[in-house]
Amino acid sequence: MRRKLVAGNWKMHGSLAENENLLNGILAGMGNVKAGVAVCVPFPYLAQVQAKLAGSAIAWGAQNLSQHAKGAYTGEVSAAMLKDFGCRYVIVGHSERRALYGESDELVADKYAVVQAAGLIPILCVGETLNEREECITEQVVGRQLDAVINKSGVASLANAVVAYEPVWAIGTGVTATPDQAQSVHAFIRGKVRGLDAAVADGLIIQYGGSVKASNAVELFGQPDIDGGLIGGAALNAEEFLAICRAG
Ligand code: PGA
Repeated sequence: MRRKLVAGNWKMHGSLAENENLLNGILAGMGNVKAGVAVCVPFPYLAQVQAKLAGSAIAWGAQNLSQHAKGAYTGEVSAAMLKDFGCRYVIVGHSERRALYGESDELVADKYAVVQAAGLIPILCVGETLNEREECITEQVVGRQLDAVINKSGVASLANAVVAYEPVWAIGTGVTATPDQAQSVHAFIRGKVRGLDAAVADGLIIQYGGSVKASNAVELFGQPDIDGGLIGGAALNAEEFLAICRAG
């Protein structure tokens, strides 16, 4: 049985004071949460979450990193730096990075590889745009995004990774994929991996992301191939986030 994982993606939100309140609220309600829980926060707040969450049941991580180890890359942050702050997870290939910052499948595959080389766990985001869904090429797009990583790091690397299926049209829009729509893509992803390595496929955590709320989490997480979620907006409210965690 795969343990579900619910991860908050705070995106570019928060302040020292807001984070303090949010983390206190989440910590206070963790008693009856069975799923694994993590928060992925902006770089400047990693020290804060490390101090606050060390020794708790909540893991933490970052939302991006450089593909380079060190050097003249002004403004960039390396995997080793994230490791210094106790990160367990790093989101790579979020659709906002792909769309707004031009991250290609190859760059995302490079980032995935450096996260693993540092002993951290990549949360690899994949997903189609609305146009791609309407053109009925969802599986082609998601398959291509996965192949970039598998070709570079091998299918065995997925034993130390999380995949997040996030249809771009569902992110931050309030339009959630139906449980059937999500399940169908999750089954495609697991089936594709199973074709290469059955054991890796069975153990792979595949999260759903895109307008997950307390009101739809139970049904989504109840699907056979949905192993929790990557949560944006709803991760900024302790009660809402905890309710989603309890659905896992
Ligand atoms: P959302 O974001 O839950 O606000 O739709 C999810 C994500 O982008 O990871």
